[in-house]
Amino acid sequence: MLEVRDLTVKFISESEEFTAVDSVSFAVGDGETLAVVGESGSGKSVTALALTRLLPEPPARIAGGDVLLDGNSLLSKSVGGLRRVRGRQIAYIFQDPATSLNPVFSIDEQLSETLRRHRPDVKNIREEAIYWLDQVGILEPRKRIRDYPFQLSGGMQQRVMIAMALCTRPKILVADEPTTSLDVTVQKQILDLFRSLKERFAMSIILITHNFGIIRGLADKVAVMYRGKLLEFGECGAVLESPKHTYTRALIDCVPRLGAGLHRLKTIERSSLDARLQ
Ligand SMILES: Nc1ncnc2c1ncn2[C@@H]1O[C@H](COP(=O)(O)OP(=O)(O)OP(=O)(O)O)[C@@H](O)[C@H]1O
Ligand SMILES: [Mg+2]
Repeated sequence: MLEVRDLTVKFISESEEFTAVDSVSFAVGDGETLAVVGESGSGKSVTALALTRLLPEPPARIAGGDVLLDGNSLLSKSVGGLRRVRGRQIAYIFQDPATSLNPVFSIDEQLSETLRRHRPDVKNIREEAIYWLDQVGILEPRKRIRDYPFQLSGGMQQRVMIAMALCTRPKILVADEPTTSLDVTVQKQILDLFRSLKERFAMSIILITHNFGIIRGLADKVAVMYRGKLLEFGECGAVLESPKHTYTRALIDCVPRLGAGLHRLKTIERSSLDARLQ
C-alpha cells in the first residue's frame, strides 16, 4: 500500500551536496509493521520525513524516486494535498514528547485541536479525546485530560503523543525512535502498547529504531539502513535468523540480552565493512 521507489534525498550546502538517502526502495502492506533499523546518521529519519516532504527544502532536495500511497504519488502533490495526507493518512510520532507537546496547552486543548482539524465527522470532541486517552492506556482519562504536559511522566507524555497520532485514524503511523528517551521499563510498556494497537486497529506502522532488540515479535518486515543506503529488506524472521549482510549480523549481535550475564558487547568493524560496501 505504501511504496517507496528509489528515493534519493540530498542536502545542499554552499559548496557541496551530500546524499543522505540513496536510492532506497521498500514497501509496507496494509496492517504490516515495518522496522527501519540502522545506526545514528544512517538516514532513517530523513527517509521518514521525506515520505510526506516534511524536510525543509532547501537545504534538502528530493533528488529522485517517488512515494506511492495506494498507487498515488505523494511527492508530486501540492502543499495542501500533502498536508491532508499528513493529517489523515500518515501520522507521525517523534522521539521526544517534551519537544512535540506544547507546554502551554492542556492535553484536552491539544487533542481537541487535532480532532477539530482532522475529524469533521466527530460530534463530541471531548468524549472522543477521552476515548483515545483510554485506548493508549492512560488511567483516569477524564481527570488526566485536564493536565498540562509537565504534570505527566515521560511515558505518559509519549502515550498522549500516540493518542494524538491515532485519533486521526491514520492508515500509516510513522514512529521515529518513540522509546529512546524513556527508561527501559517504560520503553517496554510503550512497545507492548504498539503491539496491542497493531492488533486492535488495522493500520500499518513504520517503526524507526537503532535497536534491533525491540523489533522481535513486533515487526513483520525489516529494512536495514547504512550510510543512506538500504542494505537489507525482508521478512523480520528471515532477516533475524539469516541476515544476508554482515552489517545486519553485527547489528543483531550488538543487542545486549537480558539474563545473558555481563559480557563485552560486540562492536562493528567499520573499516572492513566500508571496504566491502565499496
Ligand atoms: N537538515 C539537515 N541538513 C543537513 N544534513 C542533514 C539534515 N538532517 C539530516 N542530515 C544528515 O543526513 C544524514 C542522515 O540523518 P538522519 O537524521 O536521517 O539519521 P538517523 O538514521 O535518523 O540517525 P539517528 O539514529 O541519530 O536519529 C546524517 O548524516 C545527517 O547529518
Ligand atoms: Mg533519526
